[in-house]
Amino acid sequence: MEGQGFQGAEDRKKIALDYFRSKGLLERAREVLKHLSAAKKTFLIYPPHHEMCLQAVSQFMEAFSAYLRWGKEFSLRVIGEEFFFEERLLARESVLYYPLLNELREKEVGGITLLPGLDGAEFSDFIQLLNLGWDEIAEAGGLPALLEAKGAAHVLLDKPGTWEEKPRQLRELASAREEYFEAVDVIRELVEQVASRKRLSLNKANRVVGMILNRVGENRSAVLGLATIKSYDEYTSFHSVNVLILSLALGSMLPLDRNALMILGTGALLHDLGKVTIPQNILNKKGPLTRREWELMRQHPVRGADILLAQPGVHPLSVTVAYEHHARYDLSGYPAISGKDHISLFSRIVQVVDVFDAMTSARPYQGARTPDHAIRVLVKGMGNAFDPLLVKIFVDMMGLYPVGTLVRLRGGELGVVYEQAEGEAASPRVKIIRDCEGREVEPYLVDVARLREEAGGDDREVVESVLPEKVAVDPLDYL
Ligand SMILES: [Fe+2]
Ligand SMILES: [Fe+2]
Repeated sequence: MEGQGFQGAEDRKKIALDYFRSKGLLERAREVLKHLSAAKKTFLIYPPHHEMCLQAVSQFMEAFSAYLRWGKEFSLRVIGEEFFFEERLLARESVLYYPLLNELREKEVGGITLLPGLDGAEFSDFIQLLNLGWDEIAEAGGLPALLEAKGAAHVLLDKPGTWEEKPRQLRELASAREEYFEAVDVIRELVEQVASRKRLSLNKANRVVGMILNRVGENRSAVLGLATIKSYDEYTSFHSVNVLILSLALGSMLPLDRNALMILGTGALLHDLGKVTIPQNILNKKGPLTRREWELMRQHPVRGADILLAQPGVHPLSVTVAYEHHARYDLSGYPAISGKDHISLFSRIVQVVDVFDAMTSARPYQGARTPDHAIRVLVKGMGNAFDPLLVKIFVDMMGLYPVGTLVRLRGGELGVVYEQAEGEAASPRVKIIRDCEGREVEPYLVDVARLREEAGGDDREVVESVLPEKVAVDPLDYL
């Protein structure tokens, strides 16, 4: 008996060690990819012996050796529109490094394996080859041939499609993410145009709004998952796209026709454009703003409206959204609005989702709040800050635990909210990722409401939401 007890403890220790190993490995793999992408960009700007390139190579090598302390070889796969590290989907990286992903596909690379023994010189060669033009690569017989000619023995490339074996659902999700990234690109472009006082490419903005609107029409709950993508460094662009997605999702619950939804969407996408005129150090300030800074900050709605008014072809109601999105339902916000009791309907929609996305994003001056916390803040502000009816519809749509929320069930399991179950605001469908002892499990879906009925007990009940950074989980990996 004693022997068996000892065995059990050893097993548990091994499982725990395996778990930490796989977690550590994934984190380090992410770092490797990050520095690979950064080095590639640096080599496009500077010559290979420039200090910036040398620095990029040494940063990459540091990340790679840190990785090798945990893993044997580094295997990055390109599957459809996404990056995988071995079998694990790198959802966030697929969005962040989409240009790299796209280029690898163009240059017929289906996967990259980096072997121990790779040194800075070989890595630098690899990056330079990767940066060659598509035609130059094709002429030389492809990247693998070029690598071989250089004598690079620690970089192996897979043919495109080597790892392609994906269910249709994953492919659809991938193309939805591609659209998300396209939308981010367009808002980046618009921001640049405002900064350099050029005319805005409103046709592109319209195309993006139409594209997201089609997605919302096809599958609203899948689109809501997209809005959980955030970027700390590029907050405003990602925030604008999230506000677009959530506004269209909420707007489409109301009796609005396509034309009205397009006007709403344009206002939502462009609502914070006025921030372009506010200095970065104020937007990203850690501490509280001084009175002067705050006054400047409060001007962004008016400035945004001015920018849009100067553009031919922006619907007046879209401009109103930019102007009113901080004015609050009861007009107690800014700027001061007179002559009516409430801000307009589209502004009210954008205001609700704007607060939701801002609260659930990490900013220099505040950590991200969990989605259910943000929902409670909206509910608390019903009637004064927010239109009560819109908050009610928004909560019905999002559920108490919105898609992408990390939750703990009463039995102790950890999961990611995958889908809302109709009429069950507190009991969504959850993808379980860790068991009650905290061990990582092959993710599987449970229907919390149904399980509770079947089991007659309440151990399958959501008891709390968990902040992703507390348990080092990226919920996006599981959507
Ligand atoms: Fe704003
Ligand atoms: Fe905003």
